[in-house]
Amino acid sequence: MQFPTVRMRRLRANAQIRRMVRETSVDAGDLIYPLFVVPGAGERQEISSMPGVFRLSVDGLEAEGKELLSLGIPAVILFGIPETKDVAGSGAFAEDGIVQQAIRELKAKVPELYVITDVCMCEYTSHGHCGALDESGCVMNDVTLEMLAMTAVSHAEAGADMVAPSDMMDGRVAAIRAALDADGYSDVPIMAYSAKYASGYYGPFRDAADSAPAFGDRSGYQMDPANGDEAMRETALDIDEGADIVMVKPALAYMDIIRRVKDEFGMPTAAYNVSGEYAMVKAAAANGWIDEKRVVLETLLGFKRAGADMILTYHAKDAARWLAE
Ligand code: PBG
Ligand code: ZN
Repeated sequence: MQFPTVRMRRLRANAQIRRMVRETSVDAGDLIYPLFVVPGAGERQEISSMPGVFRLSVDGLEAEGKELLSLGIPAVILFGIPETKDVAGSGAFAEDGIVQQAIRELKAKVPELYVITDVCMCEYTSHGHCGALDESGCVMNDVTLEMLAMTAVSHAEAGADMVAPSDMMDGRVAAIRAALDADGYSDVPIMAYSAKYASGYYGPFRDAADSAPAFGDRSGYQMDPANGDEAMRETALDIDEGADIVMVKPALAYMDIIRRVKDEFGMPTAAYNVSGEYAMVKAAAANGWIDEKRVVLETLLGFKRAGADMILTYHAKDAARWLAE
């Protein structure tokens, strides 16, 4: 059948019928809000390349968490900026580390908020790489696994609901799963950054977390943006090792990967709408070049349509407000 018998516009004629045939939706309940936590008190530092995103001290988390819940956002992912960094990244697994303090505060004051923690070394190492270095400056995989496992366990001890390793070492999901299970945290799920690319879109995040590598780049562990089949292998390995949720990161330039991961594995799938994607939208909107609300909601819908079940996004609070209108 074809035109004129078929007329696609019949089902676009008014808002009611458009709503009835709508295939995809975004809900505040799909969103995870990243939070940057800094030492000190009364801190609320706006990140210059991420307007509207703040680094908060622990005492600001209760109000922030309650605001998120009131907007219908169920979860946060925590990133810590420690007081001091060292070669070993010891702040990552310190019992009174910045993220561990943040977890305790949130679980005590806003217990209904689901707390996910990013597990990586780069915010804590003086050199800014995601693990321990050998003499040549290469990240040592197997030594780093022990650090990641300790970090994940320390987050679980502090009360984290879920851990999310973002380092891209081989075998990290298995190492973290084994360590969590051995310490009695077999019910803490792992959201694996499974297909995480070596991306230019992380620039503003590295300002926010002060985690840019002091030399070189992350191409020795994060994925080559040219590769799609490799993302399937990475994801399959993480699932075999016990990942409960798999993630694709960044999101916008990797929509094909989100779709492939969802189709191939049928796993709960997360998309990380990263800092550079956020910064581009904010910059264009500030210049009056795009309608921020339309563009943000359209982009989030695109991630859902591509197969994402949940989205980590700095737009979460604005999006939740717009969705409620
Ligand atoms: C840590 C980590 C990064 C991001 C999330 N976890 C930075 C990186 O890999 O350099 C990026 C998030 C963003 O850009 O919003 N490894
Ligand atoms: Zn890292």
